[in-house]
Amino acid sequence: MKIRTLSPKAIKDKAVIIRVDYNVPIKNGSIGETTRIEETIPTLKYLLKNGAKRIHILSHLGRPKGQKNPDLSLNIVTPVLEKLLGEKVEFRTTYTPGEGRIQLHENVRFFEGETKNDPEFVQKLLKIKGDIFVNDAFGVCHRAQASVVGLPIFLPSFAGFLLEKEMEHLSPFLSSEKMSGLTVIVGGAKIETKVNVLKHFSRTAENIIIGGALANTFLAAQGFDVGQSFYEEEEIGTAREVLDMAEKNKTGIHLPIDVIVAENIEDTQTLDMPIEDVMGALKIFDTGRRSIASYAEIIQHSKTIIWNGPMGCFEYDAFENGTKEVLRMVSAHKKARTILGGGDTLKALKKFNIDKSSFTHVSTGGGAMLEFLEGKDLPGIEALMIRSQEPN
Ligand code: 3PG
Repeated sequence: MKIRTLSPKAIKDKAVIIRVDYNVPIKNGSIGETTRIEETIPTLKYLLKNGAKRIHILSHLGRPKGQKNPDLSLNIVTPVLEKLLGEKVEFRTTYTPGEGRIQLHENVRFFEGETKNDPEFVQKLLKIKGDIFVNDAFGVCHRAQASVVGLPIFLPSFAGFLLEKEMEHLSPFLSSEKMSGLTVIVGGAKIETKVNVLKHFSRTAENIIIGGALANTFLAAQGFDVGQSFYEEEEIGTAREVLDMAEKNKTGIHLPIDVIVAENIEDTQTLDMPIEDVMGALKIFDTGRRSIASYAEIIQHSKTIIWNGPMGCFEYDAFENGTKEVLRMVSAHKKARTILGGGDTLKALKKFNIDKSSFTHVSTGGGAMLEFLEGKDLPGIEALMIRSQEPN
């Protein structure tokens, strides 16, 4: 099956509803990182250039749980979008058509019908009076929600360029064959969101480097004392399963051999110690320098690197080194294909001032990227598939 893609004919004189993922980080009332907005500009410009009558932009922001929350109003995106497009953007709160050629509508998650994919909420969104639907929201394609899968039932629907680009870059990793020279770096906190991707790559990758709090659960599974560090005791069995699978498939799993510890995350006095020495009140907040040096070897010998999730609590300067160094090494590796993803990874790029163009592809998906890579059919993408005999 193929996905339906945009063409000038599909757009001309049409009112277009486009679902984007403007779920951007907000800090102290301003947008921290704008990649997700920037990445939709090619599709929006194409719609404008090819004669779309009106463009209605829909997105969620955060998880307001069906309540109107002024702190999560999408209006915060209006000036950024106007600047990037060089066009006026009308902000609307009623899901009805206004006068402007480009209209940004309020956070769809202010209504619980969005996350429940409630048919009544789909009808409310249809009052915008769109003629066609475009999905350029790769980051939310793993959610079967009203503005993602409800609208395409009623309107001719197409993938935007960002969605196409994400699929093109991530699809080669769906194969169940071993990929020579593939290194996967996985960080973050919770095993639940990463386990399937870890299982997939413990068959197909050559090396997997595990960092962040996720590594603590794996270290605990190997019998190390992780002191008072965050780890998931109930997931130790899952971690063992991944370790066993990797061993069976001759995939190297690399865990920190040394770690940066403190008693509190606010501490600026830290110690880099061998993992064997961690005990008592100590908490692991970053990957140690010896571990990072050993990862350098692996990274240098990789032909492809996929990275999702930080190596430690990089938001704190005392614990930024692991993430910063690995990012620096991956960005400097010009011979490898490098794919990055996840909201925290984007934040880290910004903090360390590393240009996105130093990588082959920076995905706008967090959970969506992981679910796509583990081989799941994402409902948002499924809704755009051309059924047999149907014209594109
Ligand atoms: C994301 O940030 O990964 C997407 O915008 C999806 O957000 P959600 O996890 O709140 O559905």
